[in-house]
Amino acid sequence: MTMIDRRGAIGVLAGGAAVAGLPVTAASKPAFLWGAATAGHQVEGNNVNADIWLLEQVKPTIFVEPSGDACDSLNRWREDVALVKALGLNSYRFSVEWSRIEPARGQFSQAYLDHYARMVAHCREQGIAPVVTLNHFTCPRWFAAAGGWLQQDAPDLFARYCDKVARAMAAGMSHVLTFNEPNGPLAESWSLNPPSAALRAQVAASVAAAAKASGSDRFSLLNGGDPEPMIPGITAAHVKAREAIRAARGDLPIGMSLALPDDVAVGADSAIERKLAAVYGPFFAVMDKDDFVGVQTYERRYIGREREVPPPPGTPRRANGAEWFPAAVGNAVRYAHKATGKPVMVTENGIEASDDADRARFIPEAVASVEAAMRDGVPVTGYIHWSLLDNFEWIRGYAPKFGLVAVDRTTFKRTPKPSAQVLGRIARAGGTRRA
Ligand code: BGC
Repeated sequence: MTMIDRRGAIGVLAGGAAVAGLPVTAASKPAFLWGAATAGHQVEGNNVNADIWLLEQVKPTIFVEPSGDACDSLNRWREDVALVKALGLNSYRFSVEWSRIEPARGQFSQAYLDHYARMVAHCREQGIAPVVTLNHFTCPRWFAAAGGWLQQDAPDLFARYCDKVARAMAAGMSHVLTFNEPNGPLAESWSLNPPSAALRAQVAASVAAAAKASGSDRFSLLNGGDPEPMIPGITAAHVKAREAIRAARGDLPIGMSLALPDDVAVGADSAIERKLAAVYGPFFAVMDKDDFVGVQTYERRYIGREREVPPPPGTPRRANGAEWFPAAVGNAVRYAHKATGKPVMVTENGIEASDDADRARFIPEAVASVEAAMRDGVPVTGYIHWSLLDNFEWIRGYAPKFGLVAVDRTTFKRTPKPSAQVLGRIARAGGTRRA
């Protein structure tokens, strides 16, 4: 199980159409996307039909707090788009919540299709390119209770949902991602600090409680169980979803994002090739007809003979002990392009930092590493920072801060941090060299 494991803590359990205001032609497409990202469950609030919402509520739960109102972005999404624009960015990545579109199996909500279509159209009107994720970890509760990605018709169920979304709003999208980091849980067994047996037992108890609350004998989700058997369902779902989206709009760039640290070999007998094959291989194998690969990088990982090993002595560290290496993302995009031959979009890159000065220092170094890769010939189409807002960081709740913008937990007031201006300056200047 992984609840979105990164940085040592366990994360979630374990050109064509013309749209209002902005014609989407090759000529009007921004040459490079400078953006910020969110995900529905982490910012919208009250995503009550989602599997993870239920896991936050049951007893026992491993969530330190429930998502509740989150950032109230379900109501304040226009403010969020306005922030993106005011900062000088030209792209907003957000996700559609499957459980709002299909709260019960086979019952589709026109009102929520309209809601997300309005978001897409509004981005366009504001000159912001919408990059839309169709699955950012959360699935409908009914889907988990029926067996999640292990059920035979999971790929068809996901593709049917993607078809509805694509027909409602693909015309206005800039790029679409089927899945967000479906490979994340596979990396767990390679981790320096794998989850303890006690934590695994807690997750199992929580998942059992969710099954019981759903009147089922199962409750299956990628980040809450043994990931291996779920991967065939997910990769098949990606392929079917891609077909459905293409049928709705043939020229929309389609991809999937992977958790891609900068993996480096330690020692002549490093297991790095085994790790790459195990954690990325199954997804690279189904990307042949994708238009781009989404890269999400937060760190460098050192791969020893069996698994990860600690960074070498003398490595620059942050106050919390994590390595200071913003250039990891540049190496990750080089690897992703080499492995797939595809253009790359950085769909997430960021830093957990309660001291925003760290983020302000991180951004120019990270972007410069991507620019260096581009100078060396790697086709990179955008840099999207995680995250626009301080938001619900899965099992760790609201304490971790990844946002360019602070959010008051009571009033939901948004306050851009100095790091947001740093990224905005780079975006306006078209790169770090001119910023
Ligand atoms: C996920 C986000 C998460 C971020 C920071 C990424 O793995 O896509 O949902 O908030 O990392 O942990």
